[in-house]
Amino acid sequence: MARIIGGVGTTHVPSIGKAIADGKQKDPYWSPFFNGFHEVHRWLAREKPDVAVVFSNDHGLNFFLDKMPTFAIGAASEYRNEDEGWGIPVSKSAAGIPNLSWHIIEALVADEFDVTMCQEMLVDHAITIPMSLMWPAEGAWPVKIVPITINTVQHPLPSLARAYNLGRSVGRAIEGFEEDLKVMVVGTGGLSHQLDGPRAGFINKEFDRYCMDTLVHDPEKIAGFSVPDFIENAGAQGIEFLNWMAMRGALTGKVSELHRNYHIPISNTAAATMLLENAETDEKPATAESSRELISA
Ligand code: DHB
Ligand code: FE
Repeated sequence: MARIIGGVGTTHVPSIGKAIADGKQKDPYWSPFFNGFHEVHRWLAREKPDVAVVFSNDHGLNFFLDKMPTFAIGAASEYRNEDEGWGIPVSKSAAGIPNLSWHIIEALVADEFDVTMCQEMLVDHAITIPMSLMWPAEGAWPVKIVPITINTVQHPLPSLARAYNLGRSVGRAIEGFEEDLKVMVVGTGGLSHQLDGPRAGFINKEFDRYCMDTLVHDPEKIAGFSVPDFIENAGAQGIEFLNWMAMRGALTGKVSELHRNYHIPISNTAAATMLLENAETDEKPATAESSRELISA
């Protein structure tokens, strides 16, 4: 059976791609951020996951404001990137694993998450940057991916509780997949930032620390925030934390924090990296019904 070994939360700022292309990882501006990945690299080298299920938000490469699915999931054998206009090189493609994607889609719909299923999907910087950070070596990335996008862009947005419950449903689905795969989950974006309007440049260190601390052992507490309250605290784009909530929801076992890095600023963003381990427990995974009762979305 497939096994969820852990999760990574990471910022996805596009200019990281330019820094990688220009080899600036050791520059004084960039090194406090890139150094935060050494521990992740050691863990990945040790654990060697087969698959990464990646929760992120699309920034206009697939879905624009005219058509915005709340939740969409890729079921393709390959995911290409295209020029998004950030001035960074177009990324290599990521390989997909359609049979696992379809298994997760079936389970999500059975759990009443009516997702948009995408047999073609482009991946933007919210996936390519985290992939390049986790696996910086040349050549194909050593994992297959299942991309799951959550709308963090066009209101009304799903609640934090809903994103967390989506993750729980994905976690149960992965663990019910019959192939012996080591699966990691990834949540990208955040932490606090706001790119436009009168609060452009807004960052909230205390709130970011609260979110990271609470995410590990008490994620349901964060799930209690309304979207407007969360945005008040984290900035308009800080709500990308929805992707981290889904990542955490998918960790179905005993969760412990192995590593964290937090650095201000990377571009307009408080940049964070977290590595969480998911140890197997004897407890049976919750049924769909009991997880819906856990927190009302
Ligand atoms: C930046 C942050 C983002 O989350 C994003 O999607 C694009 C740009 C930034 O801080 O520059
Ligand atoms: Fe973003």
